[in-house]
Amino acid sequence: MKRIDFPKDFLWGTATASFQVEGSPDGDGRGKSIWDTFCETPGKVENGDTGKVACDHYNRYKEDVALMSELGVNAYRFSISWPRLLPDGAGQINQKGIDFYNKLIDSLLEKNITPAATLYHWDLPQALFDKGGWVNRDTVERFRDYAELAYSHYGDRVKNWFTHNEPWVTAFVGNLQGRHAPGYKDLKTAVAVSFHMVLSHAMAVEAYRKSPGGKDGKIGIVLNLYPAVPASDSTEDKNAAELCDAYQNRWFLDPLYKGSYPEPLRSIFEKAGAPIPEKSGDLSFISGQKTDFLGLNYYLRKVVRAATDSEKLEAKTPHPTLPYVEIIPQGAQVTAMPWEVHPESLYDVLKRLDVDYGSPNILVTENGAAFQDDKLAAGANYLIDDEDRRSFLETHFVAALKAIKAGVNLKGFFVWSMMDNFEWARGYSKRFGIFHVDYATKKRSWKKSGRWYQSFLKKD
Ligand code: FCB
Repeated sequence: MKRIDFPKDFLWGTATASFQVEGSPDGDGRGKSIWDTFCETPGKVENGDTGKVACDHYNRYKEDVALMSELGVNAYRFSISWPRLLPDGAGQINQKGIDFYNKLIDSLLEKNITPAATLYHWDLPQALFDKGGWVNRDTVERFRDYAELAYSHYGDRVKNWFTHNEPWVTAFVGNLQGRHAPGYKDLKTAVAVSFHMVLSHAMAVEAYRKSPGGKDGKIGIVLNLYPAVPASDSTEDKNAAELCDAYQNRWFLDPLYKGSYPEPLRSIFEKAGAPIPEKSGDLSFISGQKTDFLGLNYYLRKVVRAATDSEKLEAKTPHPTLPYVEIIPQGAQVTAMPWEVHPESLYDVLKRLDVDYGSPNILVTENGAAFQDDKLAAGANYLIDDEDRRSFLETHFVAALKAIKAGVNLKGFFVWSMMDNFEWARGYSKRFGIFHVDYATKKRSWKKSGRWYQSFLKKD
């Protein structure tokens, strides 16, 4: 497998997100986000880690862009921090925040790296959360206004946009599991958030089409999707996999592409007191806002089986209304998360999108792995010998190529992540970078995976 086997204009990139790399939360007038608050809450983030300094990308972006240029990528996916542009989420604009992304975008373009910007990668302005956050329909319109502001400043140069990153995680990990900000454990809240995120995506797409830069630019959403595989051939396990698929995948794909919610899950949630707070016409509006591509974050598959009665009682299921459990097959290779390593499932999910959702253009917007990274390389042009990550990337590139050969409209691949960074509730304990970050000095160093990617990109 070589770069030349992929389409000529394929986007090869790396990805990061504002809160995970930037640091400088109070710098130059940035407002507070819900992740700042979450980090300040004892017990929420491993080791009490925070995003205060992170990778100090806010001050070191030039060095990072130079590294990306050396790596040889032709694209970079980053996210814009809403509270950096609008400290209160709406109203007063923070010019220094606007300037930061202007500088970042210009340095990327100087190096011929295509910028791809995500509008929302989880750092909701605290001021909007205080008014109800994503449960409040008003936030949907504030998001549209913020999107318009971003288009007006960057739309002349940024031609690839993503509205939301993984709304499933925002809705359900943040509001049902409570493991992410804001830390709620309430199904009704989570379902309302999930709907408002999709609605706000559609409003931001509509606004993009009307913006001057939108005439020749592209926009989409990023979803985290997983093949849901039954652990056995039994009817119970097959039903469990279908339920998992509805919850993890179709809960977002169906409203976006089909203007509907998957049954029976919609009714199950409704009966549990968690209806979708839609107004008449919302769903047709959502599916009417056609996107140019779908961003796919792929990390693992979900192997599931029906829960036993005791598992239901012990709350081993995602929720009482979702009576299944996820398992890791015996003997499977796992990452440090621990997530099962299963590259063939990337092919499966790409193929499924092609068949079930009308052959959309797709970008793999995230793929990568956390490993221990405890092996120092001796006498090499890299610091860390991360053969596990290198091979992870190679096997996933192979799966992507197989999908292209099978007719999938795959247009790009972004490795998560450009460098080690703040891994949300796991703090700095999990490293996903293809560049190593020494958190004491902030020094970036090559890993073997980065060198491998570099030589893959060079051979064309
Ligand atoms: C995804 C997130 C990204 C990163 C990876 C490991 O869910 O979008 O920010 O944390 O997982």
